Amino acid sequence: MTADQASPARRLAFQVLRQVNAEGAYANLALRQALARADLDQRDAALATELVAGVCRHQGVYDRILVAAAGRPLGSLQPALVDLLRLSCHQLLRLRPPPAVAVSASVDLARATIGARVTGLVNAVLRRVAESTWPDWLERLSQGQAPIEQLALRTSHPAWIAQAYVDLLGWSEAEPALQANNQPPSVDLVCYPGLSRPQDLVAAGAEPGRWSDRAVRVQGDPARWPALVEGRAGVQDEGSQLIALGLSRAPAPAGPWLDLCAGPGGKTALLWGAALAADEPLVALELHPHRTQLVAQAVRAYPRQPLLAVADGRRPPLRPGSFSRVLADVPCTGLGSLRRRPESRWRRRPQDLAGLTELQAELLAAALAAGRSGAVVAYVTCSPHRDETERVVETVLATRSDVDLIEASQVWPALPEACRGPYLQLWPHRHGLDAMFCALLRRR
Ligand SMILES: C[S@@+](CC[C@H](N)C(=O)[O-])C[C@H]1O[C@@H](n2cnc3c(N)ncnc32)[C@H](O)[C@@H]1O
Repeated sequence: MTADQASPARRLAFQVLRQVNAEGAYANLALRQALARADLDQRDAALATELVAGVCRHQGVYDRILVAAAGRPLGSLQPALVDLLRLSCHQLLRLRPPPAVAVSASVDLARATIGARVTGLVNAVLRRVAESTWPDWLERLSQGQAPIEQLALRTSHPAWIAQAYVDLLGWSEAEPALQANNQPPSVDLVCYPGLSRPQDLVAAGAEPGRWSDRAVRVQGDPARWPALVEGRAGVQDEGSQLIALGLSRAPAPAGPWLDLCAGPGGKTALLWGAALAADEPLVALELHPHRTQLVAQAVRAYPRQPLLAVADGRRPPLRPGSFSRVLADVPCTGLGSLRRRPESRWRRRPQDLAGLTELQAELLAAALAAGRSGAVVAYVTCSPHRDETERVVETVLATRSDVDLIEASQVWPALPEACRGPYLQLWPHRHGLDAMFCALLRRR
């Protein structure tokens, strides 16, 4: 039997990891496409999914284990071989088959995908990996390390992200918060106002949402829901729904609505339903043409379309002071959605923050300038990191005397433990939601 026949799940997972690490692909998208092309049964598809997600979550720790086991830096090995060893580490240390079986399956996969010349090395390194269990490896790697490094190892995050969580939550809560990033999220759908109703999807077998009155939760492939296929509903974390609904329902003067950074359009589609119900126009801007197309796709089922334009939100081609509700859902590190994009924790660098915070402050300033007197502006990130959340808001507010903060507790009174000072901060470990941040501001 060849490795192809023996282990289609492992082979597919290996190919996806190559796309992620060699080409910068998003793991969840690459996996979905690979599974759609392959003819795997349910069990193999589940194994491939576990292998890809598991390696993406724990990659930084597996790399340290492999350096210790190989006795040489990973840079001295061929990149494809490193991915194969990471995959094998996950299988050996987390899925725990009999070690001899896992090692020999990895050797087969190496022979079939890379070549016979690496099989000896694969065999030797993996035998050393298999000599210790996952807890033993963690203990070994933690010896002599600072407490933050130990927390980072236990939770499989880089130390700078672990430190950001400790700064926000304190030591005891940071650990469950980081561990929550290693759990797969639920699949939430949003029912667009006027196009579909949560109770109808619940009657057809979905679970009701926990927080958003437009949400349902579904199991398995969401594409089996006709409302989704027809564009009357979308896949959207309930946290995003809460924020779009909060902005649409906060007291504000009449007038047009603006979405400054709209792509791919999840919040635009929900906002547009609410704007149509209020009989207000909506303008949605997006810097990148291909992402503007995604916004058009997201709102396709509505009887009328919002005004979509490719534009730089920092210099919107719009009359200042004319909008009553403005969403600035700015580009960010995405540290709040590590459940969905587990690999991004190893790609991001602390220095990424500096470039982003400048852009974020410019977009927030433009959002405020677009608002009329009394307008509500939502500044939103899918990251809890202080630098790109409250520090950006404080920096921009320091330059203005005509803006007030709206207390999050006034707009989302039913959400427990979601206030960070005047701001909304959602958490996977507290709410089961992405760690989204929202500051609501009002122009005087
Ligand atoms: C966090 S995403 C927005 C997500 C979106 N609100 C949703 O719910 O689907 C940020 C978006 O801002 C876009 N963007 C980046 N720089 C921009 C700029 N200067 N002006 C407008 N959009 C920008 C990015 O291309 C990206 O699509």
